Amino acid sequence: MLRRKGPSRLLLIFSTLLLGGCALNGPQSIFDTAGPVAASQADLFVYIFWFAVFVFVAVTAALVYAVFKYRRRGDDDGSVPDQIHGVAWLEAAWTVAPAVILVLIGFPTVRLILETESRVEPGQQDLVVNVTGYQWWWEFEYPELGVTTANELHIPTGRRVVLNLNSGDVLHSFWVPRLAGKRDLIPNQDNQLWLSADEAGLYRGQCAELCLGAHAYMRMRVIAESEAEFSAWANSFQQGGAQQVQAQVGTPQLEAGKALFKTKGCANCHAIAGYAQGQAAPDLTNFGVRTSLAAGVAENTPENLTNWIRNPQELKPGNLMPTLWAADDPKRDEEVAALVAYLESLGTQAPPTASVQARR
Ligand code: CUA
Repeated sequence: MLRRKGPSRLLLIFSTLLLGGCALNGPQSIFDTAGPVAASQADLFVYIFWFAVFVFVAVTAALVYAVFKYRRRGDDDGSVPDQIHGVAWLEAAWTVAPAVILVLIGFPTVRLILETESRVEPGQQDLVVNVTGYQWWWEFEYPELGVTTANELHIPTGRRVVLNLNSGDVLHSFWVPRLAGKRDLIPNQDNQLWLSADEAGLYRGQCAELCLGAHAYMRMRVIAESEAEFSAWANSFQQGGAQQVQAQVGTPQLEAGKALFKTKGCANCHAIAGYAQGQAAPDLTNFGVRTSLAAGVAENTPENLTNWIRNPQELKPGNLMPTLWAADDPKRDEEVAALVAYLESLGTQAPPTASVQARR
């Protein structure tokens, strides 16, 4: 018996590794819901789960009962048992029971689909955001506010947010598990998803449709905040642009960084309101107040930004940002430092969003 310890130990290790991924309150757990859409979807999941448990227990019990009751016994003479043709009540039962279960599961499911997945016509109170997926980042445009940003979606708590989903290249899928189920972004097809957040906080999300290259690094953050904080954030964009850029560029290093943004070619792809109009990559207006960089891959710190600019492929393999300085370029350290200082200064005179902390 002692020799059997090997397999059971292996099983223990495997199940520990497997179940280790099952925390109910992880940063992207569908069970740790933070909004009405995700909550009703999680409730439905749990409701259906208990039917599955019932079916599993009933079938397993019937199986175990049959195995033990009709097992071969010592006094078995080896003859063939009496042959019977069906048991009417049993057959009726196992036909009716699944039908009843199907109805009990089907009705709430269809009702929730109609409730949360139907298109809604945005009303006065709703916040509309046009979301476009690109390889491998997210664009968030607030048409009513004239604000465009990337990778971090600011929303006011308690208000319905209507997201118009589209793609600039291939299929992507918008998924912020604690707020709502996924919805695909499809080129030339207007999909819609609506959600709302109950409480202020930072909710993590990611692309949930394989879109090649850096798909696994196509993350996002939803920052839910009070109505006042949200307005302050939006205002800082509206007052941004030239005014903001000029106000903040004062020191020689910031001036140098601002110039490098154009001479090094950053401006060909990135926009900064009032200064640069690139369209191919994330809009960097107010970049300094973002919590993350490279589409949620790293925290936005000067150190991470330096590494990101020096060697983009190291932080986010497969991404499309070019390496702008050769490793032996004697001016690299100084110029990257200037660019980092300039980018981190953008928007930092705006009201801070410091109340928002990353959960993990
Ligand atoms: Cu975008 Cu996967």
